[in-house]
Amino acid sequence: MPTAILSALPEEQHGLREQLDAAQHVRHAGRDFHTGRWHGKPVVLALSRVGKVAAATTATALIERFGVQRIVFTGVAGGLHPDVQVGDTVIGTEFLQHDMDASPLFPRHEVPLYGRSRFAADAALVDLLTMAASAVSTGLFDAATRAHFKLDGMRIHKGLLVSGDRFVSAAQEALALQHHLPDALAVDMEGAAVAQVCYDYAVPFAAVRNVSDRADDTAHVDFPAYLSQVAGKQARALVSALLPLLD
Ligand code: ADE
Repeated sequence: MPTAILSALPEEQHGLREQLDAAQHVRHAGRDFHTGRWHGKPVVLALSRVGKVAAATTATALIERFGVQRIVFTGVAGGLHPDVQVGDTVIGTEFLQHDMDASPLFPRHEVPLYGRSRFAADAALVDLLTMAASAVSTGLFDAATRAHFKLDGMRIHKGLLVSGDRFVSAAQEALALQHHLPDALAVDMEGAAVAQVCYDYAVPFAAVRNVSDRADDTAHVDFPAYLSQVAGKQARALVSALLPLLD
């Protein structure tokens, strides 16, 4: 059974498709899926697109149509916790929808009828992602890129990733998120949706995100720069280090 490698945007998938042997393209549910082998392992590459609904649809298609064994999300996120800076890597151990709020019927952030607000990553996959992330070298990038995005000081964090249908690009908003969810490391727009789908189907899930911005007033500038110059190469190196570790 294949491993799904999910990215949100084409830039985050850049360079991954070229790695596939025996590549095949399947169009399904209005999306492009690329199957093949990488390091001898069967994989499916897909773009979730942006936002929770699009990501949930893609994850469901990966499970129902392609019978994937696990889903790994790679891409970028906005740093929330003060320790999480641009260039750092965040590995999600838990996922929460920060814009889920059915209060006063249910506690804020709880997904109604699930009795929980947090969905856990697969612990074994988190360990393998940690090993893979530690093996990614900043030597991939020239000195100017390394200096600009402070890649040499890159740190790996593990913990809560939060998702919502908002690109967070104001310091006030980032502070409010941090206030309500002090252990949140970073914010994206898809991870928690995929985690919920994987929970429903009992499919192992994990996500690794590189921090492209601080979800503050300069996020709209930092995000596209990181996306075009760093994200694809980083994702390719990470997946290339991960696949040989999988059974
Ligand atoms: N992905 C990367 N940066 C983000 C941000 N600031 N808000 C939401 N998703 C993001």
